[in-house]
Amino acid sequence: MKSNQEKKIRDIIDKINYHNDLYYNKDNPEISDAEYDRLIVEFKKIQKDLPNLKDKDNPLMKIGGKSSEEFTKFNHPTRMLSLDNAMTIDDLKNFIKKITRFLSLKDCDIQFSIEPKIDGLSVNLVYENGELTVAATRGDGLNGETITSNVSTIKEIPQKLKVKFPPEKLEIRGEIFITKKDFFDLNERSKNQFANPRNAAAGSLRQLDVKITESRPLKFIAHGFGAFEKEKKTYYDQMKEFKTWGIPISPYLKVANDLDDLLKNYNYINDSRSEIPYDIDGLVYKVNDKLYQKRLGTVGKTPRWAIAHKFASETAKTTIKKIDIQIGRTGSVTPVARLEPINIGGVLVSNATLHNFEEIEKKDIREGDTVVIERAGDVIPHVLNVVLNKNKERSNLFKPPKKCPVCGFSIIIDPDEVVVRCSGTYICEAQIIGRLKHFVSRSALDIEGLGDKQINLFYNKKIIKNYSDIFKLEENRRQIVNMEGWGELSFKNLVEAINDKRKIELSKFIYSLGIRFIGEKNAQAISQAFKSINLFTKFYNNDQDVKEDIFNILANTDGLGPKATESFREYSNNKDNRNQILSLIEEVNLVISSLKKVKSPITGKKIIFTGTLNSMSRAEAKSMAEKLGAKVVSSINKSTDILIAGEKSGSKLKKANELGIKIMNEESWRKLSIS
Ligand code: IVH
Repeated sequence: MKSNQEKKIRDIIDKINYHNDLYYNKDNPEISDAEYDRLIVEFKKIQKDLPNLKDKDNPLMKIGGKSSEEFTKFNHPTRMLSLDNAMTIDDLKNFIKKITRFLSLKDCDIQFSIEPKIDGLSVNLVYENGELTVAATRGDGLNGETITSNVSTIKEIPQKLKVKFPPEKLEIRGEIFITKKDFFDLNERSKNQFANPRNAAAGSLRQLDVKITESRPLKFIAHGFGAFEKEKKTYYDQMKEFKTWGIPISPYLKVANDLDDLLKNYNYINDSRSEIPYDIDGLVYKVNDKLYQKRLGTVGKTPRWAIAHKFASETAKTTIKKIDIQIGRTGSVTPVARLEPINIGGVLVSNATLHNFEEIEKKDIREGDTVVIERAGDVIPHVLNVVLNKNKERSNLFKPPKKCPVCGFSIIIDPDEVVVRCSGTYICEAQIIGRLKHFVSRSALDIEGLGDKQINLFYNKKIIKNYSDIFKLEENRRQIVNMEGWGELSFKNLVEAINDKRKIELSKFIYSLGIRFIGEKNAQAISQAFKSINLFTKFYNNDQDVKEDIFNILANTDGLGPKATESFREYSNNKDNRNQILSLIEEVNLVISSLKKVKSPITGKKIIFTGTLNSMSRAEAKSMAEKLGAKVVSSINKSTDILIAGEKSGSKLKKANELGIKIMNEESWRKLSIS
């Protein structure tokens, strides 16, 4: 190579190292992030001209070396889905029944693929023309974080696919995990840093320093892929083909033709669970035929064509040291058992939820009791039952407190509700902190580096008292950087993470407020009542006309129940809440995203189905129509645009003719819907 080019590369490396040192070691950067990023891009462009550059000299591979792309947001080209669970055989029968009905099949002649459900972290690998270009975490399924350099250290993940003509673009989904033995060894070396193999895998993967990731025994198994042009007809065949391309797939991948077959495999794998080298918590069944998968589609975040058949939970015996009370963000009073720590299936458990006081009474759970603790999948460990010891004296029954231990307001016992609540809604600090935690949590604004621990700390130091304080953290810079465990760099990272989240979609904003009964779906429904952000601001400025209009719309919004509307009204009528929202609006950039518009001949049309469709079920037809942007109605009138008439159409067809409504037969509907 010409020495000029080499000199140029060496110069850039020196520059990057110089700025890394300023940024990481001296906390005193001289250039902006954007300028730094440009240097990295330039380096990446010419890096290949110095093929024998050693890793230790490569600034992207160095300890503390900031790679501009790491942990930046990544928009998954196709959504990363999650799975519904089947806990019982009935759940499974139901799943199969629904599929059969949806596809309008006479008998259940559906083939399923079977794989163990690995308890790890899901990743999306993007291959472009056979080269691994991006690896990203799942995140919320739509957006994850880029972890390409970290993932590139996993030897089992090919950088280049072993195939002559790879697809132009291919997304491979799979699980990154650590085997039980490797977890044990790693924990021994790292002074029991990790509670379970899954945490160890997560901690190893999300490292700024890729050298650490490289030193960890991470493994990978693929369990899905995004569509591409030449895909095989079945999931099974496609995965087998991927194996020949160098992608690791499950050695337990199989197909089953009926329920019996599924159950046989389930029992077999359940029995040999301890011999499988990594943690699994069930089996995943997927409809094998890709065309069926497409027709079945998804509901929200989960596909209709797949299910996780969970194994029974694991249990262990221990004693309750103490029962504590926890107040949630909606005032719910939850008793919690503090336990003598116990290892259950590789996880150290020291707390168990007691759910509510009815449960305590029913199971007669008392402080000092020996109890059986159950841990099942993602749920919080709970007490299964008490093990009575006749020779041991028991403590008194545990009763709900009369007053909230945090705010002193009375505890309300509603005879219609199991949950007991603290009545200090907007005064109780436990509720305020609960709402703040919810606001920054993963499902809400998802602010990296601002979790429960930091919210507790900042609230106690009076730095964050309400939502808008989060966005004014800079004002407390001096105080924070001098706190234990904090410094310029960690503070800068946190402020950046917060600034990243200033642009907020209205429905997410409403959901993030943590109002009782306002989950993601209801927040979405409420947000649709506001045609502009201006209107939303007027609403919180207590403009009576706007308020009246909005509550009228909400009262007539499909799917929004009276409890949710009432809770939203009560929240919005509170002056303090309104003021908090107004200050918050000043800090953030609220947006209303225009829903992705699908353009089809039936977009925006009101359509109605009647008679029997032979090629698909009503449910499938309805879901297709909705995907194409139509509104499916159930009664026919002048405002109906199209009637789709199946076999044996009766009165509705007649009425459509009378009203001069456009009529489509099944054949033309099919053509339209699958085009
Ligand atoms: S399929 C189509 N297969 O479980 C749905 N997921 O609860 C996409 N997982 O996010 C997932 N083993 O991280 C699938 N054999 C397997 C799996 C598996 C583990 C994880 C995956 C997913 C989560 C859903």
